[in-house]
Formats: sequence, structure tokens, C-alpha cells
Amino acid sequence: MKLFAAILLSMASVASAFPAFEKLTVEQLDRARQMLDERQVLPNPIAPILGGNMTVTVGKKVIPDAAHPFKAPSATAQRGPCPGLNLMANYGYLDREGITNFEELVYGQQEVMGWGLDLSTFLAALAVAVDGNPVNQKVSIGGPDERVGTIPLLGDGTLPGGILKHNTYEIDSSLTRDDVAIGNNKVLNTTLWQDIWDVADEMNGGQLNGKVMSVVREKRYEASVRDNPQFAFAPIGVLFFFADQFLYNTMPTALDNGEPGPATRETISPFYGAKRTGERTWEYVPEHLPEGWVRRARPLSIPEAVLAGIDTVTAAASKGQLPVGITKEDLTSPQGVVCAVKSIAIGQVPAAVVGLQGMEMLLSSINSIGAPC
Ligand code: HEM
Repeated sequence: MKLFAAILLSMASVASAFPAFEKLTVEQLDRARQMLDERQVLPNPIAPILGGNMTVTVGKKVIPDAAHPFKAPSATAQRGPCPGLNLMANYGYLDREGITNFEELVYGQQEVMGWGLDLSTFLAALAVAVDGNPVNQKVSIGGPDERVGTIPLLGDGTLPGGILKHNTYEIDSSLTRDDVAIGNNKVLNTTLWQDIWDVADEMNGGQLNGKVMSVVREKRYEASVRDNPQFAFAPIGVLFFFADQFLYNTMPTALDNGEPGPATRETISPFYGAKRTGERTWEYVPEHLPEGWVRRARPLSIPEAVLAGIDTVTAAASKGQLPVGITKEDLTSPQGVVCAVKSIAIGQVPAAVVGLQGMEMLLSSINSIGAPC
């Protein structure tokens, strides 16, 4: 409980640090960024209360460290549709078998990716709440697994679905995975991977940015409408307009000033496990980091993640390509986006598990994001 209390406390301070971040000007954001850069190490409320090897460092850092060597997943390991989770498990920042838990997820996202506590906690709480076991806080990063355990009070012996479960977190119209009704929704589709780089080549000299991701997202939506008779763009899909931007705000190696560098195919491909075999051909290998990769210095917060994705989601709104349950009106400000995402996230939690032990903490973690809403 100590950890959960500390998380809630720290998230309250995140909210008060951005009392109305929709009103921040570019100058104010720059000043906030500069203030963070001036500090070598940011205080981290989780660090003192996590066990030995779960201490989170903050600032620029070469990842992995010596304690986390790459190992390809074993035959029994779970892996799934998220390249970030797969990668963190391949280095042992998450359980190498892919049976992780809330604390480990919060730790891994901060330590490996350089994400803020707010973003890390939100994604982790939602994962355990909708795809995992809220009682023991475990979740599989792939499909159902006995090691996650059944949820006793439900009494039906069913295992939680894991991250791969369709339409709770995993959705149709993904950047590099097929829709489940017409293909493999778990493993990298290398043709879709090449498609991303074709757009980047055409629009931005082979580098990813927000405009490239908007066009890629639009193409994926159109492909789902065209090819998948069962296509349904689930409400939680709104989250992935922001996750799309991780390709250029998280995966590039950091520059000397700690900011993410250029999002080139050389840097980003290992994150996806895309190994080049020819001019336009790739094979899938376990997700790994580029040699000597340096994590971004300034933790990626929810405000920054939302600001990065807002153009993409607005472009989708103008074409009527939004997930079910999201309207243009929800997207008129970053604060509106946070509130919409939060309410959708809470709506994903099955009524049958809302009252379970452990769920209260997960729900209040989600709820304390982006106050007031
Ligand atoms: C608790 C943490 C996380 C959870 C629960 C999670 C979950 C997911 C899920 C379910 C998907 C599939 C979405 C779809 O069907 O389109 C996904 C995709 C993705 N995730 Fe994560 N994720 C987490 C953390 C991360 C991290 C740390 C990264 C690091 C960069 C990341 C990067 C991505 C990217 C880029 C995609 C899009 C994959 C594609 O190309 O289709 N995620 N994530």
C-alpha cells in the first residue's frame, strides 16, 4: 500500500504542476523544459520504496545497464503486440517470461524509456485492470497464462486475457500488426513496417515525425475499412494516436542535450525487431535496443505525450476516422483529450471486477490523472 499511496501523492503533484496545461504557451512549455534540463536528477517517489534492482534513475542514461543483458525469449515466454513491453522483457526490466505486474511496469517504463511517473502509472494501471489480475496485480504481456492466476471471487476459473486480448487494449487498425479477424495481431508484419518507411521517405527524408504518423494512421484506418469485414475501431483506440508518437519521442537515441534525436529507420528498427534483409525486405527478430542507445533525459509526461499526438487525432477527426465513442468535441483541448481518454479507460473495466480487492488502487491511479475531470 505504501507504493500506491506514494504514486497517488506524486500524481497529485503532477496535476498541480500542470494546473491547466491546455493553457500553457509555447514559451511556458520551453521554460518548463529548461527547468527540468537544469536539474541533473529528478526526485523519484518510487525509487526509495522499490526493492534493490527496481531503483529508477532519472536523466540521460545508456540503456541497458550491466544488470540487464539482452536474452531472446524462452519457448515458454509470453510476448505480444506491444514492441515496448516485449523489448523491456527481453532485457529483464520486466519479467523475462512476460508475466509482469503493476510495480514492474511502472518501473520499467520510467527506467528504460525515460517516461514520467504519470504516463507510466496510467498505462500500467489500465493494463492490470482490463487485461490482468487486479487481486495479485499480475498481467501477461501476451495471451492468457496460468502464471497470472484466476481471479478467485469471479469463481469461473477463467484466466485474464493478457495484453493480446482483443478490444480491451489491443485493437484493430494497428500500425504494424494485422487486424485479428484477418491475420496475426501479435507479431510484426514486415510489409506494414516497410509501408511506414515509404511514407517517411516520401514526406520527410526518411525520418518519422507527427505528420508522417498522421498519414500512416490514416492509411491503416482505410485498410481496415477496406479489408476487414469485422472492423470496429474500439474506444480505447484513441490512446494509440498518442502511442504512435512514441516512435519519434521515445525510441530515438538522445542527443547531447538529452532530447530525442532523429527518428531514422536504423535507430527505430531494432525496437520493433525489424532486421533488414534487403532494399525493401525485413525479418522479425526479438525486439532489442540499438547499440549504445541513450534514453531521453526529460521524462515523457502525459501533457507532452498528449501535445505530441493532438494533431494526429484532430486530423483523424476531420476525416471521420475516430474510434467509437469519441467525438470532435472531446478533442477541442489537450485537457479534453485527457478527460476523454480517462473516461474511456475507466469504461473498459468490466463491471464484474470493479469491486475486487486491488481494483480500487488501479481505478484511483487512473482517476487521479489530469484533474479536473
Ligand atoms: C503498461 C505499459 C504498456 C502497455 C499496457 C502497452 C500496451 C500496448 C498494446 C495493447 C498495444 C497494441 C495496440 C494495437 O493493437 O494497435 C501497444 C502498441 C504499441 N506500444 Fe505499447 N504498451 C505499453 C508500454 C509501451 C512502451 C513503454 C512503449 C515504448 C515505446 C510502447 C510502444 C508501443 C508502440 C509503438 C505500439 C504500436 C505498435 C504497432 O506498431 O502496431 N508501449 N502497446
